[in-house]
Amino acid sequence: MNQEDYASEVASEADPVSLEDPEATRRDAGEAESSRASRSWWDRNADEYQSDHGAFLGDDRFVWGPEGLDEAEAALLGPTASLRDKDILEIGAGAAQCSRWLAAQGARPVALDLSHRQLQHALRIGDGLPLVEADAGRLPFRAGSFDLACSAYGAVPFVADPVNVMREVHRVLRPGGRWVFSVTHPVRWAFPDEPGPEGLSVAASYFDRTAYVEQDERGRAVYVEHHRTIGDRVRDVVAGGFRLLDLVEPEWPEWNSQEWGGWSPLRGNLIPGTAIFVCERD
Ligand SMILES: C[S@@+](CC[C@H](N)C(=O)[O-])C[C@H]1O[C@@H](n2cnc3c(N)ncnc32)[C@H](O)[C@@H]1O
Repeated sequence: MNQEDYASEVASEADPVSLEDPEATRRDAGEAESSRASRSWWDRNADEYQSDHGAFLGDDRFVWGPEGLDEAEAALLGPTASLRDKDILEIGAGAAQCSRWLAAQGARPVALDLSHRQLQHALRIGDGLPLVEADAGRLPFRAGSFDLACSAYGAVPFVADPVNVMREVHRVLRPGGRWVFSVTHPVRWAFPDEPGPEGLSVAASYFDRTAYVEQDERGRAVYVEHHRTIGDRVRDVVAGGFRLLDLVEPEWPEWNSQEWGGWSPLRGNLIPGTAIFVCERD
């Protein structure tokens, strides 16, 4: 952590972030600032997230994103029968819905999240799964602890140093282990995050990697999202020691009439909304 990050971390503890009308801007945000903003944002917003999306997610389904692609059909972690007796790490697990589905297949999942409040929702739904409160950039596990790792929109879009996360996942996986993660499809960065027709016109450069930041009146980040192009994400995966086996862009299915923020049937039928990277550790 550099001195500036450390100073802002200390300041945030002494002086809680004011949340009145955060300003949306584009600026750099380092690892510590992004992590602190994510933890407090998800702690504050976990209740609303679970109440808005809990029914769609299901208590024990494994959904990869707002399109509704289900691991039970997609089998991106491998054939469902092969999950039995596997040690699986779910990163950015939220209320651990995916881990609950994995446990029902006979796997041994561990659900990890940065947000205490998200994990309290996992406890509320209940089932005795192992829950770990930690940052994806510093996984508190020994090398070679897991057969598989997965993440449905957890952590990767919010971290300043995704290669560090890839390396951490590589470290805790056993040789040959799969790492499958979904993120907002990078092409969406160029469009307003709106579900209607206004979300169909290019408004920003796809190539501008400057983070999206919401900040309080003192300039402290209260929400951060980081953009990587498709090529960047491929290079991140490779730099982390993985081979990319597939890049899945789920199409919007006819049955799904539900909007989720900027994801909608209108946009989903025209441009991809989710990218799922299927990777394998050497
Ligand atoms: C969009 S939610 C997805 C949650 C869950 N996978 C789902 O599909 O509902 C993103 C989750 O990532 C977690 N997260 C964000 N940054 C993280 C980090 N650096 N390390 C671990 N978890 C993080 C958040 O706390 C939040 O629960």
